[in-house]
Amino acid sequence: MRHLIEITDLSRSEIAALLDLADDMRARPRDYGDTQKGRILATLFFEPSTRTRLSFESAMLTMGGSVLGFSSADASSTSKGESLQDTIRTVACYSDIIAMRHPKEGAPLAAVQKADVPVINAGDGGHNHPTQTLTDLMTIRREKGRLDSLTIGLCGDLKFGRTVHSLIQAMSRYPSVRFVLISPPELRLPDYLIQNLDDAGIPWESHERMEDVIGSLDILYMTRVQRERFFNEADYVRLKDTYVLTPEKMRLAGPDLRVMHPLPRVNEISPRVDDDPRAIYFDQVRNGRYVRMALITKLLEASV
Ligand code: NCD
Repeated sequence: MRHLIEITDLSRSEIAALLDLADDMRARPRDYGDTQKGRILATLFFEPSTRTRLSFESAMLTMGGSVLGFSSADASSTSKGESLQDTIRTVACYSDIIAMRHPKEGAPLAAVQKADVPVINAGDGGHNHPTQTLTDLMTIRREKGRLDSLTIGLCGDLKFGRTVHSLIQAMSRYPSVRFVLISPPELRLPDYLIQNLDDAGIPWESHERMEDVIGSLDILYMTRVQRERFFNEADYVRLKDTYVLTPEKMRLAGPDLRVMHPLPRVNEISPRVDDDPRAIYFDQVRNGRYVRMALITKLLEASV
């Protein structure tokens, strides 16, 4: 039985195979139209989501499978006090594979102890978000033709942004990758991730002003300030508009820069940037569907 709890559960060669399959699925989706017929995906979302939940459902439906699930904790027996492990054990009786999102860090890891179907972490608190990372890797590889030798700028809420944490863990495994961390001091990357970078000898630098470094980047990964993880509203209000990417700032960037964002965006990218050919966040959304098709396929293959 294979699960996907953290991105490092997959080896680099497994990721390469997954991205190859996802590229083919994107090119010829109809060829995969009944490959999961009769199979059921359960999406258990204890925390709200648009892209992640709908892209999982779209992925399964595109392959001829079916979906069931809930989109908030109050719509499940959690509201009656049921434990997560009991919920997972129950849902495993009704489905072949489970995608779950939970506000608590580590919840998916606890859940797999009792699961006899593959479980995919669709985001756990401020911790990890491995399927967003697969989406990001697919997008980077399609745009740049490689995952190594890149300077990646990550901007915004690096403290609570789980997509940033998983992406750094993933990209750290490719040679000659350099990270440029752009955040206010309060929203810096957690120490354990800095420690991992240092232990692995991976170059990184930290900046507060986007304008100082945008010209040196291959990728600029923008993120939303994660309001729901703040302890007080005043801090959120003070920090929420620290970075706003505008066409004026894009003029400081090179022609090969690619701007990514896991979405939803709030204010951090002006809609005036959307028509810039270097802005690829909506194509990134599209990739999310195909990479999840590939992931479901591979996990189900591994679990028969
Ligand atoms: C992200 C998430 O849920 O962590 N969204 C997503 O899955 N695409 C980013 C965010 O909510 O800011």
